[in-house]
Amino acid sequence: MEKAFDPQERIAYLSHTLEQHNHNYYVLNSPTISDRDFDMLMQELQQLEEQYPQYAQPNSPTQRVGSDINHAFVQVAHTYPMLSLGNTYSIEEVAAFYERVKQGLGDAPFEIVGELKFDGTSISLTYQDGQLIRAVTRGDGAMGDDVTRNVRTIRSIPLVLKGNNYPSFFEIRGEVLMPWATFEKLNEERERQEEPLFANPRNAAAGTLKLQSPATVAARGLDAYLYYMLGNNLPTDNHYSNLQHAREWGFKVSDAMRVLHSVEEIKEFIDYWDVERRNLPVATDGIVLKVASIEQQEELGYTAKSPRWAIAYKFQAEEAVTRLNSVSFQVGRTGTVTPVANLDPVQLSGTVVRRASLHNADIIRSLDLHIGDMVHVEKGGEIIPKITAVDVDQRPAESTPVEFVRNCPECGTPLVREEGEAAWFCPNSNHCAPQIKGRIEHFIARKAMDIDSLGPETIALFFDRGMINNVADLYTLTVDDVATLKQQGRKWAQNIINSIARSREVPFPRVLFALGIRFVGETVAKRLAAAFPSMEQLRDATIEQLTAVPEIGERIAQSVVEYMNDIDNLLLVERLAQYGVQMEVEETPEMQQRSNTLNGASVVISGTFEHHSRDEYKALIELHGGRNVSSVSSATQYLLAGANMGPAKLEKATRLGIKIISETEFLQMIGE
Ligand code: IVH
Repeated sequence: MEKAFDPQERIAYLSHTLEQHNHNYYVLNSPTISDRDFDMLMQELQQLEEQYPQYAQPNSPTQRVGSDINHAFVQVAHTYPMLSLGNTYSIEEVAAFYERVKQGLGDAPFEIVGELKFDGTSISLTYQDGQLIRAVTRGDGAMGDDVTRNVRTIRSIPLVLKGNNYPSFFEIRGEVLMPWATFEKLNEERERQEEPLFANPRNAAAGTLKLQSPATVAARGLDAYLYYMLGNNLPTDNHYSNLQHAREWGFKVSDAMRVLHSVEEIKEFIDYWDVERRNLPVATDGIVLKVASIEQQEELGYTAKSPRWAIAYKFQAEEAVTRLNSVSFQVGRTGTVTPVANLDPVQLSGTVVRRASLHNADIIRSLDLHIGDMVHVEKGGEIIPKITAVDVDQRPAESTPVEFVRNCPECGTPLVREEGEAAWFCPNSNHCAPQIKGRIEHFIARKAMDIDSLGPETIALFFDRGMINNVADLYTLTVDDVATLKQQGRKWAQNIINSIARSREVPFPRVLFALGIRFVGETVAKRLAAAFPSMEQLRDATIEQLTAVPEIGERIAQSVVEYMNDIDNLLLVERLAQYGVQMEVEETPEMQQRSNTLNGASVVISGTFEHHSRDEYKALIELHGGRNVSSVSSATQYLLAGANMGPAKLEKATRLGIKIISETEFLQMIGE
C-alpha cells in the first residue's frame, strides 16, 4: 500500500535539501542543482508551510527571503564583550608583538594563526542545539542590536548546523561583508535612482544589516566569514582547529588561515596577501595574528580594550602615481556635469586605472590641478579611484590649470549652480542630448516602466534617427518604423512595440518615478502618490502641501513644483495620458475609505507593534479618516503607543494631555 503523504516529513526533507543546496552554492561555490529546480523546491516548501503553519520552523530556508514587516531592533547584552584589536602598520611592530607574546608565555613554544582582516561589519552569532538563535551587531562592544531576522537572510550563514559534534551552546563571531561586485551593482542602481552612494562595501554592509526590512536585506546579497568561536565546550583547545570544525558544520571559514611559527613566516604571509588580496571578491584591510592555543590566550589575557594574544596589521592604502592627460566633462540624466580625469593607464589594486573621478569644481580647485601633472591615485575602500594629491615638483613648465567648463559640453548652454550645491548643471533639460537619452533610459528601466525589450543602444539609435525626442514619442512608434532599422527586424520590432504597449498598465507611482523628476526616487514617488493620488492633484500641490507629506522635504517639494511649472513637462505628461499611461492611483477595495471614525484626527505612531507593521498602521489611520503625523504637538489627538516607544515622546504626550492608546484599543476603535 502506498504510504500516506506526511506534510511534516516532507517539510523536514525539503528544508534539509534546500539548506544543503544553499551551502553548496554560497559556501562551497559549487552548486549541484539548477536555479530553476531550486526555486521549485523552495516554492513547494513555501506552500506547505502556508498550508501547515504548525510545522513551519523559524530557521526554515524560506526565512532567507525575509519579510517586509518593520521591527525596530532590540538591544541585547553580549555574553562576552566584543573587543577590538590593537593595530600595527609595520613589520617592526609585529616583531615587537611576537616578542611580547614570547615573554608573556615565559618562553614556552607557541603558534600564531595568520588570517585576513575582513573589512565589513562584525557580527556575533549564537547557536543552540545546532540552530541559529540570535545574531547581534557589535554595538558599543557591551550591547548590540539584535539583527537575527536580517542575518537569517544571509545565505552563507547556516541556520541549522550540519553533523552532530558541535557544542550544544556556543557563539561564533565574524564579519558580514558585501562583495565588491554586489557593491558596484548596488551603487550603480542607487546612482540611477539618485540615492546617495555608499562610500565603500563596509558602509554598504553595515547600512544593509541595519535596514528595517529583511526582504530588502535578502535582496542585497550579503556574505559572511566567521573567524572566532567562543563557549565552554569548544571542540579543541586550538583556535585554528576549532575553525576547521566550524567549516564542517557549515560555516564559511576563510581558506587563507595559516599556522605560522616565526616573525619570518609572518612577514611572508603579510607580503603574500598584500598583493594577493587584490584578487579577492571581498574587501580586506589587513592581517590578523592570533595566538593559536586558547589556554595560552587566557594566560596572556586582555588590556581594557583588546586582547594581548592578537593584533591587526593594517595594509597601506593602495596608491599609484601617473600623468593627468586631460579632463572630460560628462553630462548626466539630470544635467549634472561631472569632471573625469583621463590618466596614463596605471596598475592599481588588480585593475588598470585610466580614469578617476574629480567629483566637482571645488575639488579641482583645492588640488590646484594642472594638465600634465603627475598625480597620486588612490583606491582606498572606494571603488572609483580618486586623485588625492599632485606632485607639484614634477609639473611641466608650460602646463595650464584645469578649468571647469562654463558651458554645457554637449549643448553649449551656460551652466548654473544652485546655492549650497557643489555641482554645476546644464539647465537645458529638454533639449540637451545626453539628458534626453538619459531620461528615456530611466523611463524604460525595470523599476520604472519596465520596457525590457529596449536598451541604451536602441534608444540612442531611435534618438539619432530622429524617431524619438522624449518619452511620449515612444508610444507613437510603429512596427513598420522600427523594423526598418534592422534587416529582417520585424520580430524584433514587434517585441519592442508589444512591451511599450504593456507599459500602459504600469501603476501610477512607478509612472511618477519614471518621469525622472529630480530627487524623486522610487520611495519618494510612492509617498507622493499616496498623498496625491492623481497627476492632477500633484500638479496643483503647493510647497506647503508637499512638505506636509512625511519624508518630503523642501528640496524635493521645490523640484516637484518646478517640474510641474514647466510647460514642456506639462505637455509631455498630457501626451502620455492621451497614450493611455496611468495618471492616477487605481482604487482597489483595499484602499477605499473604510470609515470616518477618526474624523480628521491626527495620530502619532510610536514604538513597535505585534499585529501590523508601522506602515500598515499608517494606512489604517488614513482608511479610517485620520491623518498620520510624525511628531507630537498640541494639535495631536492620539498617540498610538507600541512596545519600546521613546520616553521623550511619551513624556511630551503626557504633558500635553494627549490621549495615549494601545494597539488593541486602536484596533477596537476602528473596528478592525
Ligand atoms: S578577531 C578579540 N579576526 O576587526 C578578537 N577580527 O579591530 C576579535 N576583523 O571588530 C576579533 N577580520 O570586526 C578578528 N580575522 C579576523 C577579523 C577581525 C576582521 C574585524 C572585527 C573586529 C575588528 C577588530
